[in-house]
Amino acid sequence: MESQNTIKILTVVGARPNFMKAAPIIAAIAHHNEQLHASPATLNDGRSPIRIESVLVHTGQHYDEAMSDRFFADLNIPKPNVHLGAGSGTHAVQTAEIMKRFEEVLLRERPDLLIVVGDVNSTLACALVAAKISYDTSGSRPLIAHVESGLRSFDRGMPEETNRIVTDHLADLLFVTEESGLTNLRLEGIPDQKVHFVGNTMIDSLLAFRHKAAQSNILETLGLRSRKQGFDSDLGTTPYALLTLHRPSNVDQRESLLTILEGLEELASSCPVIFPAHPRTQKRIADFGLERFFRRQDRSDGGGVPASIGADGRISLVDPLGYLDFLCMMDHAAVVVTDSGGIQEETTALGVPCVTVRENTERPVTIQVGTNILAGTSTEGIRKAARQQLESKRAGAMPEAWDGKSAYRILDVICLELEKQRAMQLA
Ligand code: UD1
Repeated sequence: MESQNTIKILTVVGARPNFMKAAPIIAAIAHHNEQLHASPATLNDGRSPIRIESVLVHTGQHYDEAMSDRFFADLNIPKPNVHLGAGSGTHAVQTAEIMKRFEEVLLRERPDLLIVVGDVNSTLACALVAAKISYDTSGSRPLIAHVESGLRSFDRGMPEETNRIVTDHLADLLFVTEESGLTNLRLEGIPDQKVHFVGNTMIDSLLAFRHKAAQSNILETLGLRSRKQGFDSDLGTTPYALLTLHRPSNVDQRESLLTILEGLEELASSCPVIFPAHPRTQKRIADFGLERFFRRQDRSDGGGVPASIGADGRISLVDPLGYLDFLCMMDHAAVVVTDSGGIQEETTALGVPCVTVRENTERPVTIQVGTNILAGTSTEGIRKAARQQLESKRAGAMPEAWDGKSAYRILDVICLELEKQRAMQLA
């Protein structure tokens, strides 16, 4: 652990949806230190004058350029200080591999506080290591902060639900994105004083990068907008749907994936459907011989004549996109169809109609105030929801505290908590 006027925070990222949630926190820490350096006195108005040493650990759960490296570049995240290189495997293998490698790092770095975000295997693995570690004979360990606490689908079939529940019960500081999280944590008996409603750091990223994303030429590259119209224009943009599917329950069995694809045929006959497919899904499509539902949408460099793209009932398959290209595509889409958690929130913030191909959501605020509807996973349910959302206009409202300042709120709570701990140790 660090000297009296420095605290050490170790942040873990591992998989694609972690990067946009952690980026604003890492930026807020850098900003805190810059301010401190420029004029320490200005921090006396309630903000901590303590310097923060930041260590970033990448577990390597996601390792492809397209699933990881590109996000660091797009989101201006500094190179990780430590890369665990854990890679893929069954849940047990992946979680265990991360735990083994992370324990060594934690014992070496000895941070005052660990930040884990979201609900992926890396989140659970690192929280579990920190909860049981002992820096010395007195049993001291880092505080554990969980960002995006309290979300519950009440579906234990989802690996993420187990990760959420266990991580929340291990955490010392729980940062909640929406009202339902407060209720869920209270019902599980988690003391109120550990829980902080701070808003959504994923939306911090969205608001910070929306303008930059508007400069992306992905729409031209895919032939959905003519270069002449210029960036940030919906004029001359072909109305299109954006699709993502990767949830094991949807794509790992042929019958489930087939049912969903049949539900999307009608949508793909009325407008182009662009599908940046996760490696898991691309592999399943090939394994199950379902290529007939797709056309491979080759991407040019964006400088030439736009590729022809049509609404012939087939889905246009492209490789996974980076953060800025994907944000640009969400922002201009007529409708987004997804089984992702985060995309339900991002479309809500953008006011874009969203169809969620799942039976439940752990993010009910996206339905209550946002633009999301649950379609279920039946062919008819998907068909009906897609039809309804394609006709609906942009609408919805921004959920409470999704205002781009969540990372700063989190950092304020963390600094206060660590200062309190220090004072208690000195007393
Ligand atoms: C993980 C998260 C999920 C999140 C998703 C976003 C868990 C339990 N699940 O699921 O919550 O929505 O990330 O993408 O943590 N693969 C690659 N390259 C990569 C990463 C994965 O090819 O860079 C392939 C591998 O074949 C791997 C499979 O994708 O076996 C699944 O990867 P994994 O990290 O186990 O889970 P995701 O499905 O990505």
